[in-house]
Amino acid sequence: MSPKETDILRQLAAAGLKPPRSVTLAVTNQCNLSCQHCWPLSGPDQKASVVPRQQVLDVMGGFAALGATKIVLTGGEPLTHPDWVELLTFACDLPGVIEVRLQTNAILISPAEVAALLTLKDRGLIIQTSLEGASPPAHDRVRGEGSFAQTLQGLRLLAESGLAPQICITFTEMQHNFEELPVLLALTAKMGIGQFVSGTLVRGGRAMQSLGLLPPTPEQYERLLARYRRDEAFRERYRRIGNVAALEWREETAEGANICCDFIETPYVTAEGRLYPCVMLHADDYAAEGVYARPLTTAIAEKIAAWSRLTQINRSRRTSMDACQGCPDYGRCRAGCIGRAFSAYGDFFAVEDRCRLRKAVYGWRAEEA
Ligand SMILES: C[S@@+](CC[C@H](N)C(=O)[O-])C[C@H]1O[C@@H](n2cnc3c(N)ncnc32)[C@H](O)[C@@H]1O
Repeated sequence: MSPKETDILRQLAAAGLKPPRSVTLAVTNQCNLSCQHCWPLSGPDQKASVVPRQQVLDVMGGFAALGATKIVLTGGEPLTHPDWVELLTFACDLPGVIEVRLQTNAILISPAEVAALLTLKDRGLIIQTSLEGASPPAHDRVRGEGSFAQTLQGLRLLAESGLAPQICITFTEMQHNFEELPVLLALTAKMGIGQFVSGTLVRGGRAMQSLGLLPPTPEQYERLLARYRRDEAFRERYRRIGNVAALEWREETAEGANICCDFIETPYVTAEGRLYPCVMLHADDYAAEGVYARPLTTAIAEKIAAWSRLTQINRSRRTSMDACQGCPDYGRCRAGCIGRAFSAYGDFFAVEDRCRLRKAVYGWRAEEA
């Protein structure tokens, strides 16, 4: 017999773990693109795992019963899933769920998709679409020839239908596209889009082999900060719709470090049914398998002890990393993200790849003061 939700919540609390809050589910690893940076290794030529409809519904219901308030449907490309409308609608109707995010490249958006999405407009839906630049060369270099134009076409259809406030543009910061960030923010604002979020390239999956794709340099971050200081229109747009890590770090206080890493608040389930305790930490030894094919509470119960150990590892990462000893900025980042460190170097105790970028931002901020 599978454990009850109340038992699982009790066991999680007893192990020092937090219950799931924001859940990311890959519903397929089939994709109409084969992006150079793809962390989950999706694409048209992958052996596709399309998760059967009922299994996705069961897992979403299971997470909601454990108190999750946000569900993210991803892939692969979720719009290739034959039942994507039903999956989204079910998620929006789940008790306690206040936000349902569809991560899509928007290429398959036609008037029929727009009509389906409009029915969910005021029911917590956010459509999250990536643009890897403000121009075809920057975007297409990552996502393939012609993809910028196709994605913009999908976004225009959504925006014209009145869904612009429900769209979130995401931008993966890389050396080749970083200078386009202000122009992309302006384009996003001009379309009436509700949110613009950027984050640094994670060096995992295909991004490890794509040698030309690298995270931005400190000098590029410095130029962005200078732009933010001198360009009022950029600042105004940013304050209205933007969230860029480097600009947010600028505001961090030594006491107010943004520590997001509490397992299992932000779990991630792959299309193969592997449940990681955090969307950023893809460590197979700490994953529950077969989650789509058995009761969620059984899979979670099996891994509580392992996730509790992982929490200890993360605590000791925060307190005992050699590179952090004596660092004046330690209070702000507390050794950064264990998931990013593990993805890039396969080591829980590796220095996080954004360490020198953060230091540069904190240094410039000190100069500004
Ligand atoms: C894997 S995609 C799947 C959903 C959808 N097909 C799409 O293109 O948005 C989900 C998000 O992960 C981001 N992503 C993939 N690989 C990444 C990496 N190595 N670093 C940072 N973000 C990455 C994508 O840019 C996209 O915003």
